[in-house]
Amino acid sequence: MNISVIGTGYVGLVVGACLAETGNSVRCADIDERKIDGLRKNRLPIYEPGLEPLVERNQKEGRLGFTADLREAIEWAEVVFIAVGTPAGENGSADLNNVLQVAALIGRHMSREMVVVTKSTVPVGSAAKIGKEIAKEAKFPFHICSNPEFLKEGDAVEDFMRPDRVILGLESSHARRVMTELYAPFVRTGKPILVMDISSAEMTKYAANGMLATRISFMNEIANLCDKLGANVDFVRKGIGSDSRIGQSFLFPGPGYGGSCFPKDLKALVRMGQENEVPLDVLAAVESANERQKRVLIQKLRCALGNELEGRRVALWGLAFKAGTDDMREAPSLTLVEELLEEGVSICAHDPAAVEHARVLLGNRIDFAETNYEALVGADALVVVTDWNEYRHPDFERVKRTLRQPVIVDGRNLYDVEKMRTLGVRYHSIGRPSA
Ligand SMILES: NC(=O)c1ccc[n+]([C@@H]2O[C@H](COP(=O)([O-])OP(=O)(O)OC[C@H]3O[C@@H](n4cnc5c(N)ncnc54)[C@H](O)[C@@H]3O)[C@@H](O)[C@H]2O)c1
Repeated sequence: MNISVIGTGYVGLVVGACLAETGNSVRCADIDERKIDGLRKNRLPIYEPGLEPLVERNQKEGRLGFTADLREAIEWAEVVFIAVGTPAGENGSADLNNVLQVAALIGRHMSREMVVVTKSTVPVGSAAKIGKEIAKEAKFPFHICSNPEFLKEGDAVEDFMRPDRVILGLESSHARRVMTELYAPFVRTGKPILVMDISSAEMTKYAANGMLATRISFMNEIANLCDKLGANVDFVRKGIGSDSRIGQSFLFPGPGYGGSCFPKDLKALVRMGQENEVPLDVLAAVESANERQKRVLIQKLRCALGNELEGRRVALWGLAFKAGTDDMREAPSLTLVEELLEEGVSICAHDPAAVEHARVLLGNRIDFAETNYEALVGADALVVVTDWNEYRHPDFERVKRTLRQPVIVDGRNLYDVEKMRTLGVRYHSIGRPSA
């Protein structure tokens, strides 16, 4: 099948590469010519495990191409995926400008009957707007499909190749046939393709992110209470997660969620509720709990070093909003850095993937270290912000030797409290006793 993916960001690139991997002819198009130039040379704009070999192989074997010529990409395609960004607009609602611009181009340049698939996360009712925009100049029939994406950054290729489910919101048998055929190779283990009406598909994406963010904020608040009451959230997490109605996933407390999806999707969902006079109080509370949680690490640092932080130096391990990605969008590390700088704390940070992006955002206001141990030199405390695997089993003797004093604030509960006590580390984590 000839497939064009418009918008070659995180989602578009993964979708394009994975669809090419299953034998389709795919063109990924983007208005960012530098990005397209780089991709033609197999230079990826993002860090995502497993993606580079996929792009390289499929490009070499002629199934995957990159173009900045959107018109040509649309004319050529039988199926077009829209995967452009939908950032939060001024009032919190999703900004559909990019999506509608692409829809207009599709209407103008389509050269045959076509399936138009919305991959971008868009509010309920957007498909109708997209359809209207395409119809203004369309000379051929077209079929809209809402196919929200659930990939996780850091596991994106695996998630696309082996999804828990595929959601298809559609109205025509043609779209149903094309899309189920396209996704058949990805659901061979029996995972479901759930076909539904378009509004429900659009809603499913927001509801999924709303639920996941709710679990995070809920556990963060429970952890904060454990801190106060002397309970250990590790036990509590396992205790509740063993209930099959609850499950173990997404119950790890931390320094708040970030990234390109949860913050903006929650805002958009709350906004959808307001516009339709349906209060979404739970989700509004999830957001404010998250904003508070982003400040938990500086409070822990105060517990460890005293209220007066001015003149201190702190080592940060991890800047990306989560492990496995270089994405810094809405990362909790950014809130922490700003607060520390305001207090007069100097910072040396390490991240295995996100330093380039962090430099763009933070300039030379903080120092960056080549290795995680180098970040510790002259620091009064280590703060672990992101749960990268390489931070899980460090050489603690070396950590102690290099820090000016043995203080660790662990925003991801990576280390064993008893072990820290035995090692003589002053250790503060989230929702667990301090050592
Ligand atoms: N990143 C994720 O983990 C994730 C997961 C699921 C869904 N989504 C959703 O997918 C969509 C894309 O997200 P992303 O993270 O890939 O965004 P991104 O910012 O990484 O990429 C968007 C791309 O679209 C391009 N673009 C913007 N306007 C364009 C236009 N008019 N024509 C052509 N190209 C254009 C940009 O240059 C950019 O390369 C969003 O709606 C997002 O909410 C993202």
